[in-house]
Amino acid sequence: MGTTLFIVAVIVGLLLWKRPKDDGKPHNDYFRSLESVYQSNGLSEPRLIIDGQRLDQNIDSLVQKIGSDRYRIVAKSLPSLPLLRHVMARANTRKLMVFHRPFLSVIVREIPDADILLGKPMPIAAVKRFYKNLTPEQIHSANRQIQWLVDGLEHLEEYRALAQSLNVTLRINLEIDIGLHRGGFKQGGSDYPEALRYIHSHTEYLALSGLMGYEPHIAKMPLASAERMNKAKSKATAQYQWFKDYIKLNYSDTYRTNLTFNGAGSPTCQLYQSDDTINDISAGSSLLMPTDFDLLSIRDQKPALFIATPVIKALGALELPFLEPICSLLARYNPNWQRSYFIYGGYWKATPCSPQGLSNNGLYGRSSNQELLTGSGSSQLKINDVVFLRPSQSEAVLLEFGEILVVRNNEIAEQWPHLAQSCIENGIQ
Ligand SMILES: Cc1ncc(COP(=O)(O)O)c(C=O)c1O
Repeated sequence: MGTTLFIVAVIVGLLLWKRPKDDGKPHNDYFRSLESVYQSNGLSEPRLIIDGQRLDQNIDSLVQKIGSDRYRIVAKSLPSLPLLRHVMARANTRKLMVFHRPFLSVIVREIPDADILLGKPMPIAAVKRFYKNLTPEQIHSANRQIQWLVDGLEHLEEYRALAQSLNVTLRINLEIDIGLHRGGFKQGGSDYPEALRYIHSHTEYLALSGLMGYEPHIAKMPLASAERMNKAKSKATAQYQWFKDYIKLNYSDTYRTNLTFNGAGSPTCQLYQSDDTINDISAGSSLLMPTDFDLLSIRDQKPALFIATPVIKALGALELPFLEPICSLLARYNPNWQRSYFIYGGYWKATPCSPQGLSNNGLYGRSSNQELLTGSGSSQLKINDVVFLRPSQSEAVLLEFGEILVVRNNEIAEQWPHLAQSCIENGIQ
């Protein structure tokens, strides 16, 4: 009896000791003013908001660190023509990295002076489709704009055959593996020398335009510290240098042709401030800072992208079907389950950020139609109030909403449509 009482006392003690604290807090001034922009414009549905001033600060701070001449904008992470045009103008760069054939077709048509590097190897059918409805003049001009990314000999042969059938020269950038192991040519293997030989023996159809080595693993390593990141970066850049040196040594004329040595991405771009191994630095997401990019390596960039959606039902303590009798106990134990808020829409790749202390409820489940968020009374939410969420990534989330609202000085300054996933919706074949 004594032992049982002791065990019960220990469990109760532990539960009380571990009792969650109230995480709720109402909107701060920043979100309060975003809320009033949303409400004063009569908005009532889930909308994406870009904070235009923060976006500009993020662009300026990035460009200051890496330089306009090296900066290449990752279009997939900012998939909206007005957004891309804005970043190009502010950052003073014409360079884009593109990953999706329908986006490529639109960008070539709408931004004919963009300098485009593909970010992944396009299947040959997609490349054929890209060229299908272009006139010879358009093909010629697109080929001046585009560097196609090739990761291996099979793709290289396919691209050569297509170039031959079109009677054009395609500019080819080779994807190299500098530690991410997402494909591409490997250091020391026979494929890389063979690919270079192949290109140089088919110069009427293929021209080497550079290399691309992507290395986000450096900034995403577990227990990342500045020291560990720099060590991993030195290893990656040494590998990159090997690929460059091979060209310099064996194809010195080509090496002198202003090749594009592309690398980095949002997580690592700032590590190249005083490193010229690469002359072309990609970044996109860190201009909007979705939560996947809350990393030590880019901690000075500010979140600039939010989902805003109204509360449609503000109810009492969490009630779980079949478990009603114990729910009030659970809510008494966990203050963050004292209120149930149903929001308009939901189930996005995003986490609630304001008011503080709201969370999805794993026991109740998710909903794209009206999602439950639980919180405490301290968030002071009522129906029609606005909840803000931070997307975890921009590339998918930007495509899920209507026009993006660009807020500057507490007003909707602009509305930017996003790119459509398909060419027909973008008004091209
Ligand atoms: C080849 C390549 N470069 C750069 C990036 C970086 O994009 P972001 O800056 O949006 O993370 C990516 C992202 O997937 C990539 O695949």
